[in-house]
Amino acid sequence: MSVVLGIETSCDDTAAAVLVDGTVRASVVSSQDAVHGAFGGVVPELASREHLRNLLPVMDAALDRAGITLGDLDAVAVTRGPGLMGSLLVGLSAAKGVALAQDVPLVGVNHLEGHLLSVQLEREVAFPFLALLVSGGHTSLYLARELGVYALVGRTRDDAAGEAFDKAAKLLGLGYPGGRVIDTLAREGNRTAVRFPRARLKGGGYDFSFSGLKTAVRQYVAGSDAGAPADVAASVQESIVDMLVETTCRAAADLRISTVIVVGGVSANSRLRARFDVEASAQGFEVVVPPVHLCTDNAAMIAHVGACRLAHGMVDDLSVSAMATLPLEPGWRS
Ligand code: KG4
Ligand code: ZN
Repeated sequence: MSVVLGIETSCDDTAAAVLVDGTVRASVVSSQDAVHGAFGGVVPELASREHLRNLLPVMDAALDRAGITLGDLDAVAVTRGPGLMGSLLVGLSAAKGVALAQDVPLVGVNHLEGHLLSVQLEREVAFPFLALLVSGGHTSLYLARELGVYALVGRTRDDAAGEAFDKAAKLLGLGYPGGRVIDTLAREGNRTAVRFPRARLKGGGYDFSFSGLKTAVRQYVAGSDAGAPADVAASVQESIVDMLVETTCRAAADLRISTVIVVGGVSANSRLRARFDVEASAQGFEVVVPPVHLCTDNAAMIAHVGACRLAHGMVDDLSVSAMATLPLEPGWRS
């Protein structure tokens, strides 16, 4: 039996999970949305303070729900980057403490690899696959060849897609976090009400850009012909979704990839899921999107990567450090 505790504190969610023989026995996420909501974005100092307050209760809850104690653990997996340095350090210090006290291996996990492999918690997804990672901090296309080998084939040149949702929502006075609010509001809106721009970068390969959209939303808000909020939300969403779907499908066709996965917080978006379903059947590839609770930040995906790496002997010692800008490309561990 293999029992892995996963810990995730890279941004504003405090999470712990227990994986037993590859099955999630418990996954607890304590959201800080209420703390940061008033500021319209994550405040790093508040995030680390909240992690300090919440992490031990969240870990206890995960162990309780899984019906195990610290003594049952075979390994501890923890996010070591990328993320907010103060937040990462809270999780990493706790994980080191558990690994030292229980004398079990520590696996430092790249948060992005957690998102990429989160699909495997629900079903078997074989390498190679193309992964669209869309979150509040990242918008990237990776060709996942095997465990630990990911080639970056496209990335955003400016804002991340989640950031585009959040900034648009802020400009439109819709609250935080913006992605979910826009998604909900857009269900009653007309997607063609406002024609916001879709960036297609010259010679940009599979790169993305959302700064033009942000400027267009700002100009729209400053203008006098304000439409119904649901229509504007649906139009903004359609512009972001169009850019993500078009580029990803083009890359899948060019690279002759038959499996595309969509992961990260923005993959919770209902319109993005629906559009990918339609395009996948039209173009003949399979699209896999994890259920919403695995799309947003969680520790089950960290425990999963930890278990995979443990099985391959890829463990760390207690000197492993947190890295705010830890990349995922080949060689990232060196
Ligand atoms: O992966 P995630 O939970 O955190 C990181 O950034 O790592 O992603 C958070 C992002 C936020 O920008 C949030 O607005 C966006 O995911 N998001 C959504 C939806 N739910 C969360 N964006 C669009 N539609 C949603 N339903
Ligand atoms: Zn994330």
